Amino acid sequence: MQTDSSFTFVLFGGTGDLSMRKILPALFEAHRAGGMLADSGKIVAVARHAADRSEYIQWVNEHVKPHVSKNGVDETAWAGFLNRIEFVNIDLGKAEDFVHLRDAIQDLPGIRVFYLATGPSLFVPICHALASVGLNENARIVLEKPLGYDLKSSNAINDAVGEIFAEEQIYRIDHYLGKEPVQNLLALRFGNALFEPLWRREWVESIQITIAEELGVEARGDFYDNTGALRDMVQNHLLQLLSIVAMEPPHSMDSDSVRDEKLRVLRALKPIDPRDIGKVAVRGQYHSGVIRGTAVPAYATESGVRPDSTTETFVALKVEIENWRWAGVPFFLRTGKRLADRVAEIVVNFRAVPHSALGASALRAGANRLVIRLQPNETIRLYCLAKQPGEGMNLASVHLDLAFDQFFREGQMEAYQRLLLDVINGRLALFVRRDEQEAAWRWVEPILNEWKVSNKPPKPYASGTWGPAASSAMLAQHGTCWLEEEN
Ligand code: BG6
Repeated sequence: MQTDSSFTFVLFGGTGDLSMRKILPALFEAHRAGGMLADSGKIVAVARHAADRSEYIQWVNEHVKPHVSKNGVDETAWAGFLNRIEFVNIDLGKAEDFVHLRDAIQDLPGIRVFYLATGPSLFVPICHALASVGLNENARIVLEKPLGYDLKSSNAINDAVGEIFAEEQIYRIDHYLGKEPVQNLLALRFGNALFEPLWRREWVESIQITIAEELGVEARGDFYDNTGALRDMVQNHLLQLLSIVAMEPPHSMDSDSVRDEKLRVLRALKPIDPRDIGKVAVRGQYHSGVIRGTAVPAYATESGVRPDSTTETFVALKVEIENWRWAGVPFFLRTGKRLADRVAEIVVNFRAVPHSALGASALRAGANRLVIRLQPNETIRLYCLAKQPGEGMNLASVHLDLAFDQFFREGQMEAYQRLLLDVINGRLALFVRRDEQEAAWRWVEPILNEWKVSNKPPKPYASGTWGPAASSAMLAQHGTCWLEEEN
């Protein structure tokens, strides 16, 4: 991915957690790889927690360096990276301070990117302040999630930002879209003639999408307790994955063709009737338990969490898509913290053969299944039935594996690296358009409302398990079960 596009990358929240763990390491990787960032490109960190550039560089050395290059840091590349960094200390709450930012960047070359790695309450004031000093012209703005708390608040942010930046200047990040395997899903579906004809209700019985984490809320108790898994993971990552799994083939990979097709899926999601919520949605909260041999505490005792919290840390849903391709096929979505394993995967369960000429053992052995493992260990596994050796016709389920790291040993990119390069190079396809975001909120909101009105506590589950029993029971009603395999 060679580029000669020069840029000035302004990072608001330059000493925040996201900058430290993701954004600056991703920019470093792009710098280290060579040829991805124009030599003249600059990073301008904006923060209050450092007095001047040398203090900021010291902070970067202490806090960012440990997060880069797992295999050791290339010191020459690191020094070159630090040379790209400038620093501006301004108070983000004071619009008049933005004059200093303008003065600092006005002679820097290339496209301007403003990355808002700050709390969402600062999005609108920052945009107004940028406009007040004319910095919104010919610039791109990157917004991190969460973008709002519900449809109303997300619309309020989008309206306010939209008064200052045109939609094609706005890059809404959903880092799942930058993950290599998610890209590969597009390649699998639309680059191969084999799967697409089967990718429909006639051949697919059900689809599962799981994003399971072993981690708890870590240091984000305050934020998470006001958010919950539905807002944190379902409204964005899971619905984005669902839309890519279910979308029609786009006519090209240009940004609007892909996003138009995803939007059609989001708009076709069958609204959840509040009376059915108990049948199609499960919410849970982790209690204490053991993960990989270590005892871990209950959610309600985590720092920043209210002891009587009813926030969900687990969600399982049955979703339907009301269109010709998918009518009647259940999509089961699930996400949770402190689960038995860290895994993100998509499971396509195909229908069994209509008539088994091979007898009862064929039926017992199951049906075809395609498992797309996004993380860890990106693999695609296709389950088929084969005859067991020996006398008689006894079938067993066997699988074909495609492990990507066996084919491609180099060139893997972290999600943030790809997405930041896309912003710098003006590629919008992997960013969420406003209408997609609205459609996702619109679908999620009745679930949030019903949970609020009914005020039932979430179902408890022990840390280190796969969530509340009700999640498995929901699938059992459809004659299926979650795929839970060892990594
Ligand atoms: C973030 C959520 O968007 O995604 C976190 O806010 C979650 O709660 C994270 O842990 C998971 O991302 P990944 O890439 O580690 O699967």
